[in-house]
Amino acid sequence: MKILVTGGLGFIGSHTVVELVQKNYEVVIIDDLSNSDEKVLDGIKQITAKDVQFEKIDLRDRGAIADFFDKHSDVQGVIHFAASKAVGESVEDPLIYYENNLSSLVYLLKELLAIGRTNFIFSSSCTVYGEADQVPITEEAEIKPALSPYGNTKQIGEEIIKDSCKAYPELNAISLRYFNPIGAHPSTLIGELPIGVPQNLIPFITQTAVGLRRELSVFGDDYPTEDGTCIRDYIYVVDLAKAHVKALERLINQKASTNYEVFNLGTGKGSSVMEVIQSFERISEQKLPYRIASRREGDVIKAFADTKKANQVLGWSSETPLDDALLTALRWEKKIRE
Ligand code: WQD
Repeated sequence: MKILVTGGLGFIGSHTVVELVQKNYEVVIIDDLSNSDEKVLDGIKQITAKDVQFEKIDLRDRGAIADFFDKHSDVQGVIHFAASKAVGESVEDPLIYYENNLSSLVYLLKELLAIGRTNFIFSSSCTVYGEADQVPITEEAEIKPALSPYGNTKQIGEEIIKDSCKAYPELNAISLRYFNPIGAHPSTLIGELPIGVPQNLIPFITQTAVGLRRELSVFGDDYPTEDGTCIRDYIYVVDLAKAHVKALERLINQKASTNYEVFNLGTGKGSSVMEVIQSFERISEQKLPYRIASRREGDVIKAFADTKKANQVLGWSSETPLDDALLTALRWEKKIRE
């Protein structure tokens, strides 16, 4: 069965492609290579020992999408990762985010409906919740006004899909709200490839550990939490990838109760920045140089998932402990610096 994975050479996309291929799906990747590298395809092929088709397409080009589906009219499902995702960049250049993340989604959905291929998985984010009123966060938590244009494109993206599922009953869609994806494939053949100075905590920690960065800046230790640092739900990227296969199979096997569902994907456990540092020092057997810096604009204090719905309905749970996920991140960092 042929599955289209857009953004399939990205961090979560590439790990999901591996899981799909290893479950004998035929995968075609669309990626514009704006935030990834074709070398990732080699890693995927090495891990799976299978050929995976890749087409370099910019999803803002509606004609190119139509041409793609003329060629691949036998696509049975789509997992849509392709989007710009740097929170800070989205504040500086919002129109790039609204165009790239939303017009491509609309074009993709229109083409899928035109060819009657309608199993659609959307890559969303816990960022849609903003500062939730209570943790753990359930799928019914209030969607607060987005704190960044990036977060807004995830909220609007979900609304576009929800309205489309209501208007076009033949469309079957699931939005997956990720918490904080971390780590790398155990083969160290694929992993996260941040461009420039990493914005996210784990790649900054691993780059500090290998001496690329002098020290980690902890963005504030005066929050109302046990140790004063922010709490997040760090989910191992391979566990997250497996959840996408489960969600896709829920649609393909028509197990979904309605034609639009939403699932939180996390571990259900919150870890503070200091706890991540302690965990990292444990697995790396080295001290991590860090200093306490001022708070970062837009950071929420606590975000971790209530995973009951994904556990019970998707039949999926994240099993990998933080220490193990961090070890894969460190091994990957050392591998790419060899
Ligand atoms: C985690 C914690 C920081 C870097 C972002 C996006 C979200 C999703 C995941 C795409 C926070 C602290 C970080 C550093 C630090 N991306 N930190 N020093 O902000 O929770 O989520 O990435 O969907 O949409 O918003 O992740 O890794 O940036 O930060 O102290 O150098 O680590 O303050 O508490 P975040 P993060």
